[in-house]
Amino acid sequence: MAMLARMAVPTLLERLLFPTAAVDTAALRQTLAGRTILVTGASFGIGEQVARLAGAAGARVLLVARTTSRLEAIASEIADAGGTALALSCDLNDADAVDRLARGLPDLAPDIVVSNAGKSIRRPLLQSLDRFHDVTRTANINFLSPTRLALAAIPGLIERGGQIVNVSAVNVLLQPAPNWAAYQASKTAFDQWLRSAAPELRARGVAVTSVYLPLVRTRMIAPTRSYDDVPAMEPEQAARHIVAAMLTRRRRWAPWWLPPVQFASSLSRTPWEVLAERRQRREPR
Ligand SMILES: NC(=O)c1ccc[n+]([C@@H]2O[C@H](COP(=O)([O-])OP(=O)(O)OC[C@H]3O[C@@H](n4cnc5c(N)ncnc54)[C@H](OP(=O)(O)O)[C@@H]3O)[C@@H](O)[C@H]2O)c1
Repeated sequence: MAMLARMAVPTLLERLLFPTAAVDTAALRQTLAGRTILVTGASFGIGEQVARLAGAAGARVLLVARTTSRLEAIASEIADAGGTALALSCDLNDADAVDRLARGLPDLAPDIVVSNAGKSIRRPLLQSLDRFHDVTRTANINFLSPTRLALAAIPGLIERGGQIVNVSAVNVLLQPAPNWAAYQASKTAFDQWLRSAAPELRARGVAVTSVYLPLVRTRMIAPTRSYDDVPAMEPEQAARHIVAAMLTRRRRWAPWWLPPVQFASSLSRTPWEVLAERRQRREPR
């Protein structure tokens, strides 16, 4: 079984927590060659790696994000390696731009939509009182625009037996943490929307996959200094799980340790809230 892309060397704990998915490149090529895959947030991090893996497997990759120069550079590297890619510049916080992209989707004809673009904001509530735009932009980027694009893609996905993959976070299945209200709410909203729609889609031949990622070492987590020493996945590892789900069309991927953590979390709402409140009391005012 051949393996894909090279990765940074993980620590022993990271190896245990985040074993690397083995992806059969021959099977991946057989499944993805000639298919069109739309990846939002393809300019950096996890989405960039998904686009590169899908392109290397012979897919036609539609790269969506704001940073046009990055999209074009990645598209041309995919083309140099023998693949096909198209850069589609779009700000998911701009409803008109998203509407234009959505109206173009029937012609672009994606077989798989990877809803990966994301905006995370860590900000205490009392520093957010005059920042309602934090709520609207996380809602737009993490929930409303992915929903708009999914709705536009669905008729074609039904026609072609396609797939929607949502790049979500383990946090949406656990007790919510302080300082992350806007991010958590918006990620949870799209997770719920898609899971609610999933039976209707699966009954019509469209696979729906929710990928619940733990911490991944991308620029998204770089500003949070407290994450520096926390075990994290590499973006390439996350991308392997995402492309592997295109082979299996599984309903959900999560790290092996999530079910027991989720069970403990479901039993501990009150202690969790009390502990979080105590920590808040110790914070400087
Ligand atoms: N990193 C983690 O620890 C972690 C954990 C769990 C889940 N996730 C999820 O994984 C996904 C990818 O995150 P990442 O870690 O790879 O972060 P990243 O490196 O910051 O990449 C985020 C991507 O989203 C795009 N994006 C952000 N705002 C956008 C906008 N307004 N319009 C269009 N595209 C926009 C960015 O492109 P431009 O800036 O070029 O627009 C970029 O390509 C997110 O949905 C995130 O919630 C991440």
